Amino acid sequence: MTVPINLLPYDIESAKNKLVVVTGSNSGIGKEIAKSFVDYGAKVIIACRNEQSASEAKEYIGLNSEFIYLDLTDVDAIYKFVDEVHTRYGNIDILINNAGVLRPPFTRTKSGLELTFAVNYIGYYSLSLLMIPLMKNVLGSRVINMSSISQYSVKYINWDNINSDKTYNKNKIYALTNLFRIMFTIELNKRLSNSNSSIVSLACHPGVSITNIVRNLPKFISNPIMVKLLNRFLFQPPDKASKPALVASLNSNIHGGDFVGLDTRKQYKGNPAIVTPNELVFDKELRQKLWDISVEITGIDLN
Ligand SMILES: NC(=O)c1ccc[n+]([C@@H]2O[C@H](COP(=O)([O-])OP(=O)(O)OC[C@H]3O[C@@H](n4cnc5c(N)ncnc54)[C@H](OP(=O)(O)O)[C@@H]3O)[C@@H](O)[C@H]2O)c1
Repeated sequence: MTVPINLLPYDIESAKNKLVVVTGSNSGIGKEIAKSFVDYGAKVIIACRNEQSASEAKEYIGLNSEFIYLDLTDVDAIYKFVDEVHTRYGNIDILINNAGVLRPPFTRTKSGLELTFAVNYIGYYSLSLLMIPLMKNVLGSRVINMSSISQYSVKYINWDNINSDKTYNKNKIYALTNLFRIMFTIELNKRLSNSNSSIVSLACHPGVSITNIVRNLPKFISNPIMVKLLNRFLFQPPDKASKPALVASLNSNIHGGDFVGLDTRKQYKGNPAIVTPNELVFDKELRQKLWDISVEITGIDLN
């Protein structure tokens, strides 16, 4: 469901001189988000796990960007990343949790988490909470969590299988982690507000765009002609798909806890609009349960 708020144009001026961390900005939608921020006068930290592709991305994003290594499957690497940002810059203005995986072959991380759950959700939770101290003295700071229309398909949370301990269903865990990203966004925003913090947390989704995320889908989809056709007629190209995240970061008409999607019925393509997520995200008990599990897994909580 969409509400008729035109969220474009947003306040590009307000991006000037901001320091923005964009995870997964060596590729796809993250790369476009990073480029726009640099074009608008911000400095971007390209937070990703591949130095070579980060340096290629930097040529596209612009000089006012810098690579810092981040692997979201590795808790030590997340701590190290936060230390590095703190040492080099002190504070940041905006954290955009964008990195993600879709339908990887079944894999467990060093800490025993299934890969999709680790990157798409636990990585978002850990990085956000560890970055909060770097944002708390920055007026207008925001945490933005990328999600997806796949979250609408979740009807029920099977808590016994969130780490794929019983079965591994690639589509279901992708959708569930995208639901968790919004539940986490709302809960984090509520907890920040209760502690009188000025930091807000928002979620968004890009619609659908053929990017490297399709690497585990049938090969014909990543055929360059197919990509062009699909992104032009059915879905949208990555630069257009980056707009909801830009709006969530820079528009002053939206509030903590909001979900920025697209102004069309199916939300595959369109212009940014505030939309209503899956109703499960409004269940306080489910959000509390997710928070408790996240603390238990990571040992990290909001202080
Ligand atoms: N494209 C869509 O249609 C669509 C729709 C809804 C939501 N989304 C969401 O949008 C986000 C961006 O997707 P995209 O389409 O731009 O895909 P993409 O081009 O594949 O980009 C994903 C990014 O995440 C990074 N990443 C993966 N695992 C990581 C890890 N362990 N640590 C750090 N970074 C890691 C990737 O790094 P590498 O390059 O090293 O793999 C890449 O930079 C994802 O969260 C996705 O779920 C996309």
